[in-house]
Amino acid sequence: MAHFKKANSLNEWMDQRLGVNTLKKVMQSEYWIPKDINFLWAMGMVLAATFGILVVSGIFLLMYYIPDTKLAFDSVNYITMTEVGYGWLWRHVHGIGASLVFLIIYIHMFTGIYYGSYKRGRELIWLSGMLLFVLFSAEAFSGYMLPWGQMSYWAGMVITNLFEGFSPDFAGGALNSPALVEWIRGDYVPDQAFLGRFFMLHVFLMPLMIIGVIVLHFGTLRLPHVNNQEGADIDFDEAAALWKAGNKKESKVIPFSPVFLSKDVFVLGVYFILFFYLVFYNFSFAMDPVNFDPADGLKTPAHIYPEWYFLWSYEILRPFSKDLGLLAFIFAQGIFFALPFLDRSPNVAPAGRRGLFNIWFWILLIDCIILTFMGKLPPEGIWNVIGFWAAITFFALWIALPIITMLEKKK
Ligand code: HEM
Repeated sequence: MAHFKKANSLNEWMDQRLGVNTLKKVMQSEYWIPKDINFLWAMGMVLAATFGILVVSGIFLLMYYIPDTKLAFDSVNYITMTEVGYGWLWRHVHGIGASLVFLIIYIHMFTGIYYGSYKRGRELIWLSGMLLFVLFSAEAFSGYMLPWGQMSYWAGMVITNLFEGFSPDFAGGALNSPALVEWIRGDYVPDQAFLGRFFMLHVFLMPLMIIGVIVLHFGTLRLPHVNNQEGADIDFDEAAALWKAGNKKESKVIPFSPVFLSKDVFVLGVYFILFFYLVFYNFSFAMDPVNFDPADGLKTPAHIYPEWYFLWSYEILRPFSKDLGLLAFIFAQGIFFALPFLDRSPNVAPAGRRGLFNIWFWILLIDCIILTFMGKLPPEGIWNVIGFWAAITFFALWIALPIITMLEKKK
């Protein structure tokens, strides 16, 4: 047994047993952040805080939710919303949190793309981030099933149908498996087994995995450190030594806590004003009116569409035939993972200084926004044509990326 001296304070007592001072040291004096970063670098913390809010509000909702196809709808729309004190508040907080988390994820991703934060040793930051995106998507989708409304049921039907794979005449039927769909649903159509599974995924397995991957994401940031607005290659040891020696002005870095953390907290404050404005005055933003009708397997809604954050990838699938659409969908889901390897340029710099890449970046961003709008509209007439060309543009952009970045001159 190690030798323990009598502790003179609670802090010393905890430090002897848990090393809390080591953690403090790492956070305050050994985790350095570049000075030259703007408010967009606070989005990671905004995401972590929003995830925390989703967990807490989810725990309150879980106290009254009943994962039974006959009772689920009323347990949410009647019991939680009208009988439980402040049940409506927790539901709105959870719904708005689920929607905003995607808005912030997209801002965080496109910030990373703009500043090239996935390059030169930062590949694992990007890959773990993309894994978080996939896990959040699964978390949001499974949560959407739980109220067992019309959109829950029909979106569940459409998305699980995708697992049937390609049509029987594609590749001799080798990639067609209706049995897989039944296996996932636990039935021929979404029903009790389906709801039970998605309930388990939503309240247990997905959050557990998300917490694990957030820890991994933070871990991947430690050695390469966060990027900066100029893409400058900072010698962190040298810059930190300058700061410690009192040359704070000349040093290119600041300690994470409390210096940078105070900036994060300021951005969080502004974010929460928007968050609670939506919770109290505009909560319909995160609720689909069709989902206030109970699930009915005999009544297909006129238009089936996912939540806004999935619309861009849904629109990539929709203009094509079944097999081509599925291929397009798989491409769209996977291609962002490959970004660090498709960008062949050695330059880490903001897109604004990277010539053709700057054009590529802005077209990609606008294209994703167009796809999102088109995904919500019925696939008819001019909307269909715009959606089709926006999907084609998406593929063309990713095919062009290695070529235009190879042509980029080394700076
Ligand atoms: C949803 C959960 C996520 C959390 C809690 C999270 C958290 C963070 C935090 C705290 C940082 C450091 C500060 C900052 O740059 O904001 C960071 C950096 C980063 N994250 Fe995430 N992130 C998440 C999702 C993602 C996703 C979906 C991606 C995209 C694939 C991603 C890619 C990155 C990159 C590339 C950086 C490095 C930025 C730089 O070096 O400048 N993250 N993340």
